[in-house]
Amino acid sequence: GEAQHITAKISAHYVDNARNLPWRVPPKLSASGQLPIPYHVWLSEVMLQQTTVAAVIAYFQKFTERWPSVADLAAADEAEVLAAWAGLGYYARARNLHKCARHVTENLGGVFPSQEAELLKLPGIGAYTAAAIAAIGFGQRAVVVDANIERLVARLFAIDAPLPKGKTDIRIGMDALTPNDHAGDFAQACMDIGASICTAKAPKCELCPVQTYCRALAKGDQERYPVKPPK
Ligand code: ADE
Repeated sequence: GEAQHITAKISAHYVDNARNLPWRVPPKLSASGQLPIPYHVWLSEVMLQQTTVAAVIAYFQKFTERWPSVADLAAADEAEVLAAWAGLGYYARARNLHKCARHVTENLGGVFPSQEAELLKLPGIGAYTAAAIAAIGFGQRAVVVDANIERLVARLFAIDAPLPKGKTDIRIGMDALTPNDHAGDFAQACMDIGASICTAKAPKCELCPVQTYCRALAKGDQERYPVKPPK
């Protein structure tokens, strides 16, 4: 059906256009089955929760050099972790990060769980982060929805229900698009398109690999999506 065509176009676009980010496995290696280190996926996703990719890169490198494994991070004092976090903001994230590192190290043998439901129980890990770690870090099929994906899917299917109800429809749309294999690459492909093409203002639809499928573009109404609730 149409969803599979959209998925194939987005996946093919990622092979040539993926951003080269230090926590990622490049798409060609990923296609041959290589997965990133779950510790790296977890650390990057927590950092990216409220901070831009551009700002996170240097912090990610600093953290992984100083604390190469989750056990190293767990062995640090909380104060050291908070000091290294300075500048990223939202310090509750850093406290939960350290708490989670200790939990994984002390109770789970230093191994992150691969199942979304188990990841959800960890400190600082909500629905988005659990799905992202399961898909990107473990190759599981999980439906990943962040703000960039929300915008892309809302436009592709011209989802008219205002947020927050529209979120349910957006999740159904992303579920329909998510492939059984390489769901993590697919999610990151959607994030990249959302960040660089399907932008909130002045989207570059002429560069989009799924422009011919986009219902919002067909209506000439891209910027109306995702529909915000009335104030
Ligand atoms: N934002 C959140 N997670 C991301 C990822 N894995 N790649 C790019 N942007 C992101």
